[in-house]
Amino acid sequence: MTDGQRAGRAEIEVRALGEPDLPAATRIMQRAFGAFLGAADPARFMADRNFVRSRWRADPAAALAALVDGDVVGSNFATRWGSVGCFGPLTVAPDHWDRGVASRLLEPTLDLFAAWDVTHAGLFTFSHSPKHVGLYQKFGFWPRYLTAVMTKPVSEAPEPADARLYSRIAPADRPAVRDACRRLSAMLYDGLDLEREVTAAEAQSLGDTVLLGDPGRPDGFAVCHCGAGTEAGAGRCYVKFGAARPGPGAADRFERLVAACLRLAASRRLAHLDAGVSLARVEAYRALRAAGFRTVIQGVCMHRPHEPGYHRAGLFVIDDWR
Ligand SMILES: CC(C)(COP(=O)(O)OP(=O)(O)OC[C@H]1O[C@@H](n2cnc3c(N)ncnc32)[C@H](O)[C@@H]1OP(=O)(O)O)[C@@H](O)C(=O)NCCC(=O)NCCS
Repeated sequence: MTDGQRAGRAEIEVRALGEPDLPAATRIMQRAFGAFLGAADPARFMADRNFVRSRWRADPAAALAALVDGDVVGSNFATRWGSVGCFGPLTVAPDHWDRGVASRLLEPTLDLFAAWDVTHAGLFTFSHSPKHVGLYQKFGFWPRYLTAVMTKPVSEAPEPADARLYSRIAPADRPAVRDACRRLSAMLYDGLDLEREVTAAEAQSLGDTVLLGDPGRPDGFAVCHCGAGTEAGAGRCYVKFGAARPGPGAADRFERLVAACLRLAASRRLAHLDAGVSLARVEAYRALRAAGFRTVIQGVCMHRPHEPGYHRAGLFVIDDWR
């Protein structure tokens, strides 16, 4: 008899999430968030948004399933941004909560970060929930700053912007553009690399990447998801990651980057632009407020180790690790 059986807890098996598991994992994600947030119809919660399939496609080996008696009861998705790792959505079917399923999924998640030589790992969670903060503390993550997920209505005719879209760059020139974006992100944090998101947005038709100024040395770039079936959801454009080149003039570059994202949203007839920012990035948060963004969701980012990474004052970066 195993320890789990002796303790009266069901045996939990953790393995890679396979394509046949995706519908079950998607249903569980909707029900779990719907139940936790008190949605009227948890089964339909976030039905216009796609995290499970798109993250699985971006890196199937980093998608994990937890099973009890052969049925999927939870999943988690690790993301590698070069030297930075984050994870989520981590979800467990409500009838299996508080039986150690999430904890079991976190063990191999941390193994992945170790195998990737990640120097900074993190996640976004609900700051008001002692359970969430306690769960992640158990694995060495520490809550630091609030992170605001903000939104702004998109006007009919936003400011013109000196920007190009990655999808319009000739395929032969794209690797050089990705290198240029990598050089920019490495200025924010050594080894930070968003190539996975740039490529996933293009390959999976999730959206596009805005390149501000010269694509060979961009003043900024922003990976945006557009509309239903992406992380944005119906009628929305979501800045998955955006950054202005740091240094003198970064505030102006950031303002222009946000204008370029608004333009992309308008061109796709999306009514809202959503963008998350750590309140540690004081100037970036204030700039978004000044540009008319209002907070709709407030959570906290937890970090491992308990260090700022690229969540610090002076950096004009949009992301929220959701
Ligand atoms: C959050 C969620 C993934 C947790 O899954 P779970 O399988 O119930 O979690 P576990 O049983 O593995 O771990 C729960 C841990 O919470 C912690 N915890 C619970 N209540 C706590 C409290 N009041 N204070 C401190 N820690 C607490 C404990 O560390 C506990 O683990 P332990 O019992 O081994 O000490 C699950 O509830 C869920 O799917 N929620 C909805 C979706 C969601 O919010 N996802 C996470 C987004 S960041």
